[in-house]
Amino acid sequence: MAKQVVTTVCFVLFHCIISYWAFMSSCSIHSSTKIIIPDIARYFGTKGRYEEVNAYLIDDILAINNSLVTLPSSKCSEIHLTVIIRHGTRYPTIKNIQKMREFHDLVVREATGNLNCLSEIKSQWKMWYTDDMDGRLVDQGREDHRHLAQRLIKWFPSLLTEENVRQGRVKLITSSKHRCVNSTIAFREGLMKGLRSEAKLELAVNDALMRYFDQCERFVKEVENNKSALEEVKRFHEGPEMKRVMEKMADRLEVPYASITDDSVEAGFFLCAYEFAIQKLNSPWCQLFDEVDAQVMEYAGDLKQYWKRSYGHEINSKSSCILFHDLFHRLDQVVAEITKNSDAIVSEAVTVQVGHAETLLPLLTLLDLFKDDIPLSSTNFATQHNRIFRSGNIVPYAANLLVVLYKCPEGIRMGVRLNEKSLTLPGLTDPVPMYEDVKTRYSTLLKGCDQETVCKINS
Ligand SMILES: *[C@@H]1O[C@H](CO)[C@@H](O)[C@H](O)[C@H]1NC(C)=O
Ligand SMILES: *[C@@H]1O[C@H](CO)[C@@H](O)[C@H](O)[C@H]1NC(C)=O
Ligand SMILES: *[C@@H]1O[C@H](CO)[C@@H](O)[C@H](O)[C@H]1NC(C)=O
Repeated sequence: MAKQVVTTVCFVLFHCIISYWAFMSSCSIHSSTKIIIPDIARYFGTKGRYEEVNAYLIDDILAINNSLVTLPSSKCSEIHLTVIIRHGTRYPTIKNIQKMREFHDLVVREATGNLNCLSEIKSQWKMWYTDDMDGRLVDQGREDHRHLAQRLIKWFPSLLTEENVRQGRVKLITSSKHRCVNSTIAFREGLMKGLRSEAKLELAVNDALMRYFDQCERFVKEVENNKSALEEVKRFHEGPEMKRVMEKMADRLEVPYASITDDSVEAGFFLCAYEFAIQKLNSPWCQLFDEVDAQVMEYAGDLKQYWKRSYGHEINSKSSCILFHDLFHRLDQVVAEITKNSDAIVSEAVTVQVGHAETLLPLLTLLDLFKDDIPLSSTNFATQHNRIFRSGNIVPYAANLLVVLYKCPEGIRMGVRLNEKSLTLPGLTDPVPMYEDVKTRYSTLLKGCDQETVCKINS
């Protein structure tokens, strides 16, 4: 008896020591026992983790949270789902890898400050990003899509079925970019695993739909290839808030102010964001920014998205007319099938389209979502503190727009979710409105918004 107590005490004690040791070592950047989230992670914008917008996924990546979703009455049943998804977590592009390398070199060569993180960067951190990584999907990005597919099976168990896959009622469409193709392949893996299916499911590449922005001549000329279209972004980079971030950085590194440019602070911020998104590390780079610095960096990123992909210029959203019409055309077809025969099996139950942040943002803008009363500009950082246009909330990695049709006794209803949270379309009060009311709301776009007309340049 006594021996048993002693054994138990020893065991408990041993356990405590082990737990304590595990806790302590988790503070080291090399441990994977517990992930420490950088304090500034919510400011990473388009380089942010999906888990930052849905924190319940941190404990269980396959969880779904019903309290975030509004459903129509239980007399309704789901008849169709369209999902438009951004690719998963990726490596930096070559341009940013080069900026990161330059900043790392500068820190190693010139920084004399005595912050802990500086000695860590100098003695332990290796510049492991290489040019050939250029925007490629990372393992985490594959996981993002596998898991999303598995959650969608839980969300829509009557639509994402083995039967629907086998009968060709589930379609996969992707942008031709390797990160999107590989995301779609990972999505398919998640789907097949979740459904225990061995059916064949091909993916179709369609850049006219998923990279419409390349093919809209007016957008390319007036925004993409036009420096003055992003004048506000440039002004903010030269403005007092950014200057302060640069000075604080120079003070921390103890280098001359002239050594630090907007590119340097951007590179440092990206290093923190990428090390976290790709490797789950709270890297020493993150210590070079306080919260206000991170808010300024976030605003610089949001300004760019705003002027290049969103409300800044009308052509940004109009360039997505082709994707808008593709969506409503499909929904109309589903409604027509059901109207003809209310017991019909819908021929396209689920459509999955994989693209970019640049695919999603203009479409959300066309729908009038996330529109602040006052435009984002180079001079209103302070008053835009509570803006709704936050790219980190809207288009993190694996961001997804879900459009659901329901068959109800009173007719067809439509629900919209962004990142697995219900949205009420602006101008409508019902979170799951009648489909006809949605069409009335967007009637101007449905009658016009013709890609040919919108994108053509009359010379
Ligand atoms: C679901 O989301 C709500 C609102 O964000 C949150 O309060 C709640 O904890 C989440 N539920 C679970 C099970 O995590
Ligand atoms: C990702 O896609 C590219 C091109 O489609 C391919 O060459 C590569 O092998 C893929 N990577 C993985 C790990 O699947
Ligand atoms: C470039 O953008 C500016 C500002 O929006 C605009 O005034 C100008 O017309 C654009 N230039 C071209 C060539 O479209």
